Amino acid sequence: MPEKYFIKTYGCQMNERDTEIMAGQLDELGYSPTPHDYDADLIIINTCAVRGSAEQHAFGYIGQLKQLKEQHPDLKLAVAGCMAQEPGTVAWIKRYAPHVDLVFGTHNLHQLPRLLDEAEEHQETLVDVWKTAGDVVEHLPSHRNDGVRAFVNIIYGCDKFCTYCIVPFTRGKERSRNITPIFEEVKALAQEGYQDITVLGQNVNSYGHDLDPQVDLADLLQTLERIDGVRWLRYTTSHPRDFSQRLIDTIAESKKITHHVHLPVQSGSSGILKRMNRKYTKEQYLDLIDRVKQAIDDVSLTTDIIVGFPGESEADFAETLDLVKTVRYDAAFTFIYSPREGTPAARWEGRDPVPNPVKKERLNRLMELQYQISWEANQKLLGLTEPVLIEGLSRKDPNVWAGRTQSNKVVLVNRDAREDLIDRFVAVRIETAKTFYLGGVQVGAPLSGPAPRRRVELPLL
Ligand code: SAH
Ligand code: SF4
Ligand code: F3S
Repeated sequence: MPEKYFIKTYGCQMNERDTEIMAGQLDELGYSPTPHDYDADLIIINTCAVRGSAEQHAFGYIGQLKQLKEQHPDLKLAVAGCMAQEPGTVAWIKRYAPHVDLVFGTHNLHQLPRLLDEAEEHQETLVDVWKTAGDVVEHLPSHRNDGVRAFVNIIYGCDKFCTYCIVPFTRGKERSRNITPIFEEVKALAQEGYQDITVLGQNVNSYGHDLDPQVDLADLLQTLERIDGVRWLRYTTSHPRDFSQRLIDTIAESKKITHHVHLPVQSGSSGILKRMNRKYTKEQYLDLIDRVKQAIDDVSLTTDIIVGFPGESEADFAETLDLVKTVRYDAAFTFIYSPREGTPAARWEGRDPVPNPVKKERLNRLMELQYQISWEANQKLLGLTEPVLIEGLSRKDPNVWAGRTQSNKVVLVNRDAREDLIDRFVAVRIETAKTFYLGGVQVGAPLSGPAPRRRVELPLL
């Protein structure tokens, strides 16, 4: 019987991608995946440190696993990911979770086979966390979890040091992959049949500044869109400061780069933005949004916003609400500020915190506003026909397909049992528009050829 592994992943798409690379290494070692923790021989907890809540979930899960380990003494437990880069986590594990066999970080996950071997020899928890990142490692095996969308790293780390954020500490300095291995990876994915590709980084807009010769994200996307079989090309996450006019023009002209632009604003107050070290003002951000809206047809805009940053006044928050009303995002990810040890803002939180009830109340007001705007934006799609890439069956209803538009909106499509539509593009006439998803019916046969960019207007039946 091959040994079985289970990986629990918290956090962002970069962590999901790291999980795929760990899984690929385990497959090569002869392990096989299991969808449950209770029958695994090896459990890896791939952690996220971005907010306290993410950490609490991981701590809770690590604690729970003590019982499983008591029942199965041969079970191996490993903690990986961004929390492992924090000395506080390692100290906590040593003190409260000695049932963990191995702790390793984001910079040495490519050495998983060696780490597992060494942990086997060790009586106590083996801790092998690198403080700094080495060179980019290519040609790692990978076990992709998603059969329809594929994610490809293009840049690791972050040099921005937003004052609230832990990521530059857990992921190290920016390192870009060369264009050639990225091109080869995407080409191989397209040959495997992946049509929807997302390139990944904490700040994809600074891609290539550290390469020789220097290149940028626009160059990379232009190169990738030449690959046959790639239909939709996405990129995440963007930093507004580095989002160049050249990139906007490249997206506008491209037939494959999707018209979804995620531009985290974080706050609508220039004073708060300055203290966040975002290096743009509200006016500069709004000017960028104007240029994006002008150049890119039917662009769908989304964002990230933090409320309750230390010292955020009611007037600052009102500016955030105002900005949301001006931009009219299709969706926003909204967060309550969470102090991260070692970051500058965590020290300010000690002196000038926004009280918890105020944070919560602001979050509620912001969400209420955004939900209304999202709902209204979706109403405008009623009656239109959109190309949708079907990803699978709806989790709630097996009689319904679930897919996504190029603008990244989830669409539920009535299912005709005769045809398997997974990984196919279908034209869907939108007949329901909710805050978080759309619903519709398939029009005609699955589409072939490149997905149509412009919506086709059809009357509602
Ligand atoms: N690199 C990306 C995403 C980083 S993490 C970017 O810069 O956009 C994703 C989001 O989490 C951030 O955009 C921010 O809105 C939020 N976030 C990061 N640190 C946070 C903190 N300490 N408290 C609350 N939200 C935080
Ligand atoms: Fe964090 Fe800012 Fe880097 Fe994003 S750009 S990962 S928010 S430091
Ligand atoms: Fe979390 Fe690390 Fe991603 S802190 S958001 S998993 S980079």
